[in-house]
Amino acid sequence: MVKSTNITVYLCSECGSDYPKWHGKCPTCNEWGTLKEFSISKKDRQKRDVETRPTIPLVDILYHGEIKRNPTGISEIDRVLGGGFLPGSVVLLGGNPGIGKSTLALQMVAKLKDPVLYVSAEENEEQIALRSKRLGINSNNLNLTSENRWEGIMEHLSLLNLKYLVIDSIQTIYTDHGESLPGSIGQVRECGQKILEICKQRRLTGIIIGHVTKEGMIAGPKMLEHMVDTVLYLEGDTRHDYRILRAVKNRFGSTNEIGVFEMTTRGLQEVKNPSELFLAERHPDIAGSVVVPTMEGSRPILIEVQALVSNATFGTPQRNVTGFAPRRLSMLLAVLEKRLGLLMSTKDVFVNFVGGMSVNEPAVDLAVISAIASSQRDKPLPSRMVLAGEVGLGGELRAVSHIEKRVQEAKRLGFKEFIGPASNVNKMRRKVSGITLIGVESVESVFKRLF
Ligand code: TYD
Ligand code: MG
Repeated sequence: MVKSTNITVYLCSECGSDYPKWHGKCPTCNEWGTLKEFSISKKDRQKRDVETRPTIPLVDILYHGEIKRNPTGISEIDRVLGGGFLPGSVVLLGGNPGIGKSTLALQMVAKLKDPVLYVSAEENEEQIALRSKRLGINSNNLNLTSENRWEGIMEHLSLLNLKYLVIDSIQTIYTDHGESLPGSIGQVRECGQKILEICKQRRLTGIIIGHVTKEGMIAGPKMLEHMVDTVLYLEGDTRHDYRILRAVKNRFGSTNEIGVFEMTTRGLQEVKNPSELFLAERHPDIAGSVVVPTMEGSRPILIEVQALVSNATFGTPQRNVTGFAPRRLSMLLAVLEKRLGLLMSTKDVFVNFVGGMSVNEPAVDLAVISAIASSQRDKPLPSRMVLAGEVGLGGELRAVSHIEKRVQEAKRLGFKEFIGPASNVNKMRRKVSGITLIGVESVESVFKRLF
């Protein structure tokens, strides 16, 4: 009898942990039904071709080694990365198919001063070259390959004196040591691990592209998130042209920053003034439209909130939100009903943050609640007014962060009135001329003023 050289393991598609036996619920991440069977060759389990890494005294690194960032030359990307790429770190770039990941990856590496290997297993070299031409990229440092076998990629890595490795995408490459098909959890984990090892070992910067499906993440990227140093998401609505690059994890920088881009015929262009973009199509005199100064990292962005309140035709009224947490909306509706006496339980309510931005800071509460009230009473708000403030369960207004930046941005775009929490407005150290600041204590007093 031939002794099998393979062993069977069960891999979790969420966190990537493996077990010798099947479980209904993953013991590590507690997800149900995520364990799938894989066979891994015994040899591979036992032996990995990695050298033992040396130990280095901390002071040697701090005072003699170089910790230098390599900027991409595109400021929107560099800000999100925290200043640029770090040698030896790995970045995961996720996003829905067709959102522009390949385009962004190509633009990211186009201006780098060291050699790049762009592994494009999804498209062939000519297609990438055509795209580069369209983007106006003409770099001597860019090398393309459509090789999708990890062992083959390793050969290229050894031949070229590389500093950057782009994998487009992780779902299409495979290693001979894995037993399953490219894109399967086993392969993604195996290849991800190998990319990580090689990048740390040779001080390469790795950029891994991963597709995301409508339901969230497909097998792979979620667990890759735990492995890599930085996770970037390219978001946006394919119906709109702008894209938002967001860091959801960053070991070497902030996770609050976003980069705003517009997809044009010549690739992704930076948007330096996102507020102008988000307010471009605004009709100020419509009831239910309110502008709110939000903060995205260190940057204020003005966004329009629209609300529509109508009589519910069926028993259960609809609550429909885009870009805002539905639970937060329920809370605001309860405040409207209980504290302000507006009957909401027989109304359909729609709330939309214009332009596909999703906002999750409580400072937008006041704007959302005012937009709903404005639509309910069919009374537009003054067109040159912005509102910011967190609404508490008692209808009281709570302070927001970075009030001065918000006010400045509103003023820059020509707004004349700023309604905010009294606790904030009264404490502002520098007065801003050209815009009237109104500090209020509660939603009630805001509504007295508005309606
Ligand atoms: P792509 O980068 O291929 O997306 P992904 O890698 O995330 O699947 O870009 C897809 C879309 O972008 C495609 O529909 C065409 C569009 N696009 C432009 O509008 N302008 C451009 O300059 C480029 C390169 C692409
Ligand atoms: Mg692509």
